[in-house]
Amino acid sequence: MFGLSSTFVSKILHGIKMLAEIGVSFGALVLLGFYTYQSKLIYPASLNDGHGYCATPDEYEMPNYELVQLKTEDGETLQCYSIKHDKNEADYSNKTILILSPNAGNIGHALPIVSIFYKNFGYNVFIYSYRGYGQSTGTASEKGLKIDAQRVIKYLSEEDEQYQQSSIVLYGRSLGGAVAIYMASTMSDAISAVILENTFLSIKKTVPHIFPMLKYFTSFVHQKWESEDLIPLIPSRMPVLLLSARNDEIVPPDHMDKIYEDLKTDQKFIYKFEGSSHNDTVIQPHYWERVQEFIQDKVNPVGY
Ligand SMILES: *[C@@H]1O[C@H](CO)[C@@H](O)[C@H](O)[C@H]1NC(C)=O
Ligand SMILES: *[C@@H]1O[C@H](CO)[C@@H](O)[C@H](O)[C@H]1NC(C)=O
Repeated sequence: MFGLSSTFVSKILHGIKMLAEIGVSFGALVLLGFYTYQSKLIYPASLNDGHGYCATPDEYEMPNYELVQLKTEDGETLQCYSIKHDKNEADYSNKTILILSPNAGNIGHALPIVSIFYKNFGYNVFIYSYRGYGQSTGTASEKGLKIDAQRVIKYLSEEDEQYQQSSIVLYGRSLGGAVAIYMASTMSDAISAVILENTFLSIKKTVPHIFPMLKYFTSFVHQKWESEDLIPLIPSRMPVLLLSARNDEIVPPDHMDKIYEDLKTDQKFIYKFEGSSHNDTVIQPHYWERVQEFIQDKVNPVGY
């Protein structure tokens, strides 16, 4: 063999075999890591100092807020901010925005958005930390976040009179969009309208976009959030607004197109923000006009 000694060849072969084995076990390790730690990837609750200081609504000139702590059926405590307008005011809107957070940070970080809904538009706002986030107890998981969703809807639709009488509008970005789709498809009676921003069809279909390496291993995804299956169950009377960043680097924008296509409602609207990425959509021109217009025109009482 080209004059090489057989021992040399066998050494090389041994080396290749070793490398292959290391490769395989390294790959297995990565997959094991992905399987074990995907909850930390999908719910990075500590990112942006999520467990650190949580700003309160009074810091944004919304002093009459209430800190609500909701106990879930499995014993977790959800930290919520409830910010209501006086229902006896002549121009009371009778509408409540339920803000469903994306997967990083805490509810203090959302206060600039809360403030637009509450102060600029005159809507009541309710926002909560999912379990494992901010000051809520527990650990985030798909099962747990769905229990939290049920708890919050029960509070708004049965336990608090002012919220119960108001029209509830869901506003969810990214992971929050998946929670909104879960609520709108399984607890639709309590909900008047839905706003979804840069959300996905499922985690499985999002992973290869973020981690191309894991393309063949999506069966290792156990946090599924299969919104795609729930979207057709959203009732036809439900107005739905989709806000889609066309340069989204996390969720491929065609997920939003497919959601639009699969919605059975005859009141669906999609706005595409060219040049916008996953988390800068709120600062795009006309964003807030679209949002306000939708809530005023499609949610009762119309005009508020
Ligand atoms: C809000 O709307 C509900 C349902 O239409 C109605 O019963 C309630 O009286 C309204 N509340 C106020 C303060 O306008
Ligand atoms: C967008 O998200 C990334 C990653 O979570 C973060 O580093 C960045 O600061 C965010 N940008 C904005 C405008 O919030």
